[in-house]
Amino acid sequence: MRTEQPKVIHLKDYQAPEYLIDETHLTFELYEDRTLVHARLALRRNLERDQSLPPLVLHGQELELLALALDGRQLGPKEYQLDENQLSLQPDSPAFSLETTVCIHPESNTALEGLYKSGKMFCTQCEAEGFRKITYYLDRPDVMSVFTTTVKADKKRYPILLSNGNPVASGTEGDDRHWATWNDPFKKPAYLFALVAGDLKSVEDSFTTMNDREVALRIYVEPENIDKCQHALDSLKRSMRWDEQVYGREYDLDIFMIVAVSDFNMGAMENKGLNIFNSGAVLARAETATDAAHQRVEAIVAHEYFHNWSGNRVTCRDWFQLSLKEGFTVFRDAGFSADMNSATVKRIEDVAYLRTHQFAEDAGPMAHPIRPDSFIEISNFYTLTIYEKGSEVVGMLRTLLGAEGFRQGTDLYFARHDGQAVTCDDFVKAMEEANQVDLTQFKRWYSQAGTPHLAVSEHFDAGARTYSLTFHQSCPPTPGQKHKEPFVIPIALGLLDQNGQELPLRLQGEQTVGSSSRVLSVTQAKQTFTFAGMTHKPLPSLLRGFSAPVKLEFPYERDQLMFLMQHDSDGFNRWEAGQRLAVQALHDLIAQYHCNETLVIDQRLLTALRSLLENDSLDQAMVAEMLSLPSEAYLAEISETADVEAIHVAREFARKAIAQTLFEPLWQRYQANREVSRSTPYVAHAEHFARRALQNIALAYLMLSEKAEVLAACLEQFEQADNMTERLTALVVLVHSPFEEEKATALAWFAERFANDPLVMDQWFGVQAGCPLPGGLERVQHLMQHPAFTIKNPNKVRALIGAFANQNHVNFHRRDGAGYRFLADQVIMLNALNPQIASRQLSPLTRWRKFDQARQVLMKGELERILASGELSSDVYEVVSKSLA
Ligand code: PHE
Ligand code: ZN
Repeated sequence: MRTEQPKVIHLKDYQAPEYLIDETHLTFELYEDRTLVHARLALRRNLERDQSLPPLVLHGQELELLALALDGRQLGPKEYQLDENQLSLQPDSPAFSLETTVCIHPESNTALEGLYKSGKMFCTQCEAEGFRKITYYLDRPDVMSVFTTTVKADKKRYPILLSNGNPVASGTEGDDRHWATWNDPFKKPAYLFALVAGDLKSVEDSFTTMNDREVALRIYVEPENIDKCQHALDSLKRSMRWDEQVYGREYDLDIFMIVAVSDFNMGAMENKGLNIFNSGAVLARAETATDAAHQRVEAIVAHEYFHNWSGNRVTCRDWFQLSLKEGFTVFRDAGFSADMNSATVKRIEDVAYLRTHQFAEDAGPMAHPIRPDSFIEISNFYTLTIYEKGSEVVGMLRTLLGAEGFRQGTDLYFARHDGQAVTCDDFVKAMEEANQVDLTQFKRWYSQAGTPHLAVSEHFDAGARTYSLTFHQSCPPTPGQKHKEPFVIPIALGLLDQNGQELPLRLQGEQTVGSSSRVLSVTQAKQTFTFAGMTHKPLPSLLRGFSAPVKLEFPYERDQLMFLMQHDSDGFNRWEAGQRLAVQALHDLIAQYHCNETLVIDQRLLTALRSLLENDSLDQAMVAEMLSLPSEAYLAEISETADVEAIHVAREFARKAIAQTLFEPLWQRYQANREVSRSTPYVAHAEHFARRALQNIALAYLMLSEKAEVLAACLEQFEQADNMTERLTALVVLVHSPFEEEKATALAWFAERFANDPLVMDQWFGVQAGCPLPGGLERVQHLMQHPAFTIKNPNKVRALIGAFANQNHVNFHRRDGAGYRFLADQVIMLNALNPQIASRQLSPLTRWRKFDQARQVLMKGELERILASGELSSDVYEVVSKSLA
């Protein structure tokens, strides 16, 4: 907890460490009521600074110091200083050894940072600054050390003892205890340290690397989960191969381990050789995990594995550089997922997520550049901006440099910085030098926050046969940044003729006719590009593949959007045209609602969707994506002031209109696909995902008809499905339906059937928390009393409280403010238990500027109540105070 005014840490104050730690020897003695940690550190003066011998200042929090020795000599109380956050002492030579013994209490650690217990097992989470809760240390990523770790524990309770690197020795101690020693030959920062002790089972496999080295692969889980590891194991092997083929990166240790834990603040953690995963990010099998969950597991396994190079071998100099590893690694995992599944669908999902959530963050009080200038609590900066926008920035580099140039850049980056802790500038410099380009202006993406607006206008000159596009870029102010300089915005585009053919593109002044899709680089506030040889006015397909994270405005007519939906050669832009058409149709409805008019939907949207449904040759996953209306959250994000009720009513009206008008083709598609599902065993592959995606969105629409034959089909799917994808969809649509009896029966049956599977119960909570029918808050409050719920488990908090506040707009934003009050109460409770989770749950309240006056007052009132509620963690304090500023 915070006791003094929290300190703001600035990038500009960065200083290299005074001392380095060459070797770190740790011994853990694990007991039920305490843990003893002995550390022996080989320290030396960092000579890159100078020859002086300043005091050694080690980080340490919540540690009870039992012994301290310098070069083998015990220090008396006058020979060191101790406060809540650090231990200081004066060395008398430039190289020395320091030994400490501390006592810590993992058994009562509810923050899930440092060493803690998840169920019966011990595990660690050290990123970003958790290692200082384990022992006194230079807990900063630019101090890299070789770790040797011995773990001692009760033999029966903790037969498995793991740490980073390779196992080097083990043995027993008396009758009840045993020990194991691990050595990690690669020097690493403390945030990559990990330890696990528990009664675990493992699945094993092996992988032969590109240079014929054999690597043992192991996934450790609690015994009841042993049948849910295969998908992650297969994903791991595919990731290892892909990183060799696409980035030339080979794995480096003899063993790679993943451990699944139930209580985990984030998705997973890339500790060297010993990744620790939220069980929800690794366990998956047909009966218990949806297709989306399978894809998420594949992506996260890949993400953490890819960190071995982008993060571990080459790490961050300081936490302001977080996007160096996270943005790049998200970009890498997105490339992997695109190659394993449908690339277009993956891109659509990522862009929809970015535009809904990251754009909202970039427009809110916590907006920050992908390389922030300052922070109070680094845990608050594991954001969509650092991750998702960071990935977009890397993607823009690839778009500008081309696939080959980009690969040369990454090769140079890895070769030059292997074993180092570096900065975003170092990454960009490698790209510049490998490609002989100047990226000075491009680097504004690293330093400026906010989502750029790009307004595009066109001009056709029939006489001169030219077609011009003029780009106006601007970027709204964000906290601490009033004025923005122009960005480098890569615009991938094509021009279509009246038949939907792509025109060859030649800019005025160019000699040769180019290809039909190309990338323009917009670098000025206002910039015009003129294409020559245009006999007719073309239709532009702009920002193909979403080539830059901007808000693009172009005055498309609805007929033009329908045309693009059919003819654009870029799959992403076909979807995008459909989304734009849907947004326009929804905006009509919202306006009608405001004027108290009868709602009438634009028939063109229905026509466009019908032709998709009736075309059997289209990719079913694409059809499913295109049938999905923009979410309420996205509609709110793109509104100046979000009218919660109007958005909900308009969208539900549109859904009903689609269901009614397209009942026949939807019913046909549903029945055909369900028939295949019935007769085919579950497979976690792209075509099967596609079939079930279309089947399930069709079912969701069909249920809006409230017809008896649809209800029967839904119940059949719920009862008979052999997989969670179909079963859960059936449950969701039942829960959203007015069929009270069937709903109650299904919920009860499901809860009984899966009572012993916490991850499935999370889904059960989530379905109910997200239900927009009236009474949502009361349902959630009631569910918090359910025996399977506990506020101490982050997955449960996310499934119930998070799903309610983030996905159930009508209920969370109810006019009387009860939703806000509920969330604030939970945040206050969580603040004391788990500050990171508390601070994350806050984010819907930070968006108060988006809403009407009455709601703003209520939301701010709750933020003020949190601020006044007593001792706040630095995590919660930072988010609340910045939101109210
Ligand atoms: N570094 C982890 C990842 O993105 C995320 C993480 C951060 C996990 C902090 C735990 C704590 O792969
Ligand atoms: Zn990561």
